[in-house]
Amino acid sequence: MIVAFLNQKGGVGKTTLAVNTAASLAHRGGRVLLLDADPQGSALDWAAARTADPLFTVVGLPRPTIHKEIGELSRGYDHVVIDGPPRVSDLARSAIMASQLVVIPVQPSPYDIWAAHEVIALVDEASVFKEDLKTVFAVNRKITNTAIGRDVREALGGYPVPVLDASLTQRVIFAEAVAQGLSVLEAEPNGQASAEIEAMTNELLEMLQ
Ligand SMILES: Nc1ncnc2c1ncn2[C@@H]1O[C@H](COP(=O)(O)OP(=O)(O)O)[C@@H](O)[C@H]1O
Ligand SMILES: [Mg+2]
Repeated sequence: MIVAFLNQKGGVGKTTLAVNTAASLAHRGGRVLLLDADPQGSALDWAAARTADPLFTVVGLPRPTIHKEIGELSRGYDHVVIDGPPRVSDLARSAIMASQLVVIPVQPSPYDIWAAHEVIALVDEASVFKEDLKTVFAVNRKITNTAIGRDVREALGGYPVPVLDASLTQRVIFAEAVAQGLSVLEAEPNGQASAEIEAMTNELLEMLQ
């Protein structure tokens, strides 16, 4: 699959979801390319922090030519995961046009929910010529047993984009693993963060079947 994690808002979890989804796909035996489309290069930083053997290839491509190069780039890989840039940009448009599936991470905060209309507008605009493009919200940093954690689905229901059943909870391991260049699947194979990532990856794969 070719999946992009996009949201103009920074800090919503694009890199966290991209890295861990790529790891989950690699664990299943797929050959995975992680394309870092963010000029800040966070996914490349993750790869640089890593001392363990590489799980997948990480390449920086912060240029609005991803959609033109995707055929060439994806050759030899089963999956391409794109870590999107912040802000509205040609880079984000290019990533959308290169993808089969756009995942929009959102945090359960009113600001994130209001801000989501911007990324949806961008996807709508960029996907005019991509009839079979799929788009979905992924709730990240859910805080269990809070009203906002429960209401986020309902609030997102106002948008014409579905919400993944699987969501990620606010867990320190997500931040700790990234700092060490690890996926949560390696840092805590039997932990709840791993279970959440596996469930999310299953759902993304199912969406493209
Ligand atoms: N589910 C989570 N639990 C705890 N920390 C998280 C979670 N998701 C993201 N973070 C942390 O939040 C910060 C922003 O996440 P990041 O993935 O870099 O967002 P983005 O790429 O959208 O800017 C990082 O420090 C990351 O470790
Ligand atoms: Mg990022």
